[in-house]
Amino acid sequence: MLLTETFRPMNRKSDKNLVVGLDIGTSKVMAIVGEYVPGEPIEVIGFGSHASRGMKKGVVVEIESNVTSIQRAVEEAGQMAGCDIRSVCASISGSHLETHNSRGTAAIRDREVAAGDLDQVLESASAVAIPADRKVLYKEPQEYRIDGQDGIRHPVGMSGVRLEAGVHLVTGAASAVQNITKCIQRCGLAVDDLVPSAVASAKAVLTDDERELGVCVIDLGAGTTDIAIYTHGSIRHTKSLPVGGDQVTSDISQYVQTPTASAEEIKVKYGCALAQLARGEETIQVPSVGERPPRRLQRQALAQSIQARYEEIFEMAQDEMRRSGFENMLAAGVVLTGGAARIEGAQYLAEEVFHKIVRMGSPLYVTGATEVIATPANAAGVGLLLHGSRAPGGNRVIGGAMGDSVAGAIGKMKGWLHRNF
Ligand SMILES: Nc1ncnc2c1ncn2[C@@H]1O[C@H](COP(=O)(O)OP(=O)(O)OP(=O)(O)O)[C@@H](O)[C@H]1O
Ligand SMILES: [Mg+2]
Repeated sequence: MLLTETFRPMNRKSDKNLVVGLDIGTSKVMAIVGEYVPGEPIEVIGFGSHASRGMKKGVVVEIESNVTSIQRAVEEAGQMAGCDIRSVCASISGSHLETHNSRGTAAIRDREVAAGDLDQVLESASAVAIPADRKVLYKEPQEYRIDGQDGIRHPVGMSGVRLEAGVHLVTGAASAVQNITKCIQRCGLAVDDLVPSAVASAKAVLTDDERELGVCVIDLGAGTTDIAIYTHGSIRHTKSLPVGGDQVTSDISQYVQTPTASAEEIKVKYGCALAQLARGEETIQVPSVGERPPRRLQRQALAQSIQARYEEIFEMAQDEMRRSGFENMLAAGVVLTGGAARIEGAQYLAEEVFHKIVRMGSPLYVTGATEVIATPANAAGVGLLLHGSRAPGGNRVIGGAMGDSVAGAIGKMKGWLHRNF
């Protein structure tokens, strides 16, 4: 997609590339505008956040409200960045997402691998039989093999005849994919790419070493807990579990008998996911429902209730790691991110449950507005920027069409040189 199609610059005077990430979460919609020169860190030049309406457990349940939330967030981000946003890389989540590891093959057209051949091999791997009500929404190459030689990460420029690739595919319910796309398009925006939330978060918070050693990213959101597993440098498994911080809030609301908004406030202010970290004598004041006066509550008792829910979420994540078959290959352990990971004690509790090293993951690889942007809740939003700024195996500019046409032109030129000299 051409730069001018992606943005209509208002007061910007820069020849740098721009990219927009739109993270449509259950609790908030976050739009982030990044400016970059390929190969250098992205600088955040605008962002906008709005309470998310019309989403439940990561999927759209009410189009109009969702459209309003997206519009507000995107307008705010565009104003701050001084441009009119026309297209975005957006996140997708929800338990309808499924993961497949597939293989693709392609003939290397000019005896030297060009970006066009990578597209071909991805296409071939995506041609798997899936039910009519499902759709392949994301594909990422794992590793390549050329004429039987495997373990190749960067095949462009290598000589050969036959290219093969292992490809990670994520499929989703066609209706859920259509609904999220419809909401974005109703805001007058084109969708450059849809990226599963877990994959987006992983792009922002992981280091190459962790991916190589084996690592599991767990994005603890409001309505979903999104998981992505990497081993030997590549993505292997993704999952979106329909549980998250909203359940913790609702537990507190039941336990303390207080409205949801106060329960949310209590959680963020006093919450703790490991009861032993809260001192027995500590008490907090909590509002009651109706005309009843506020009461005092032991913080440790509150922490016990919170710990039970976090334990359950972590155990579900652990079951998923086991099901994936990669649980014992995660030498770099677990990286926790997402807003709900911010609660006190989450890291220690996770270490107890997973028996692995655990660290907190805030977005890396961006500059500008880091005090606002580089927080766990924005991992997916930043990951979308990173995804939009570099295509797998090459430097994509903005959007698909321009990157593909540039890559295609370079491929053709190389082929011509190869044949003629
Ligand atoms: N300091 C904190 N302590 C505990 N929970 C927190 C804290 N800050 C945020 N949260 C929780 O994090 C959740 C929001 O996280 P996040 O912004 O990552 O979710 P989301 O992306 O909107 O939702 P999802 O990814 O599930 O669709 C809410 O449940 C909120 O209560
Ligand atoms: Mg999220």
